[in-house]
Amino acid sequence: MTGADPILSVKNLSIRFRTGDGMVYAVNDVSFDMHAGQRLAIVGESGSGKSQIALSILGLLARNAEVEGAALWKGRDLLAMPAAEINKIRAREIAMIFQDPMSALNPYMTIERQLSEVVELHEGMSRSQGRARALEVMDAVKIPDARARLRAYPHEFSGGMRQRIVIAMALMCRPALILADEPTTALDVTVQAQIMELLAEVQQAMGTAIVLITHDLGVVAGFCEDTLVLYGGRVMETAPTRALFRAPGHPYTRGLLRAVPNINDPSATLAAIPGSPPNQTHPPRACPFAPRCEDAVTACFETLPMLEPHAGTASRRACLRPVEALT
Ligand SMILES: Nc1ncnc2c1ncn2[C@@H]1O[C@H](COP(=O)(O)OP(=O)(O)O)[C@@H](O)[C@H]1O
Ligand SMILES: [Mg+2]
Repeated sequence: MTGADPILSVKNLSIRFRTGDGMVYAVNDVSFDMHAGQRLAIVGESGSGKSQIALSILGLLARNAEVEGAALWKGRDLLAMPAAEINKIRAREIAMIFQDPMSALNPYMTIERQLSEVVELHEGMSRSQGRARALEVMDAVKIPDARARLRAYPHEFSGGMRQRIVIAMALMCRPALILADEPTTALDVTVQAQIMELLAEVQQAMGTAIVLITHDLGVVAGFCEDTLVLYGGRVMETAPTRALFRAPGHPYTRGLLRAVPNINDPSATLAAIPGSPPNQTHPPRACPFAPRCEDAVTACFETLPMLEPHAGTASRRACLRPVEALT
């Protein structure tokens, strides 16, 4: 994308979970780079491994996880870092926004305490410095009458306002990267649009890089310049978002796009992709999407396609079939 070094470089990340029923291969050989100020979407159905990618970067995986690969942050591997080190990077340099604002906020603490605690803890700020910073970010996320509302508790806000507070919390230390995991999924559609607009604005004003994790390609269109499509924990396609929408190179991406509601014709029926998500208890040896793919041929059930540049474009795709042959 740009000539500068990436701030985050995820290399051959694989995450599997030990369970009573054997290994679950949740994330398989995923690589991507993030540059300063970049907006990248990670898109895929529920269970495709999106959240585990984000959690691994912040050292928050469940205890039954085994990780391979690297996540280089300014050259240091986050996956190999001791907890004490990664705790310093979390919130301060890389912040996360979760889907459910209620679980991210403490119901018994005022907004002011929750916000300013972040900078008191991580940056050694005093209470009054913390309050000033809290006010600044509450203004940045457009919470009306911020000064009066600092003393309020989370339940006194609407769902949309609570998600603004969660975003404010992520911004407290001015992180270089925000991992936003389905930040609008719990909200109704009009509020979703407002929150996405707000994220875009804040992102531009502060130059923060954002990884936007979503199952909804519709959310990605106006927001992320680049998109990575995951299926069964593997990267199916990566592309500049415009190119992905204009000329999707992978049958799975094509299926996802057919499932995005058309704003110009809301009555048009959405084509859901038939079949169910892959069973992840076996290491992938062939294309995970083959059983649901209209374009699959015998080889697709036998060979694992590599992610390769797709002739003459900035896109890469993992598909054995020529683009011209896709339905
Ligand atoms: N602690 C765990 N033990 C076993 N399997 C897990 C664990 N955590 C997540 N998984 C599995 O990892 C896969 C990817 O999960 P996740 O990243 O949460 O999906 P997404 O965010 O894309 O919906 C899923 O199949 C999920 O069931
Ligand atoms: Mg998730």
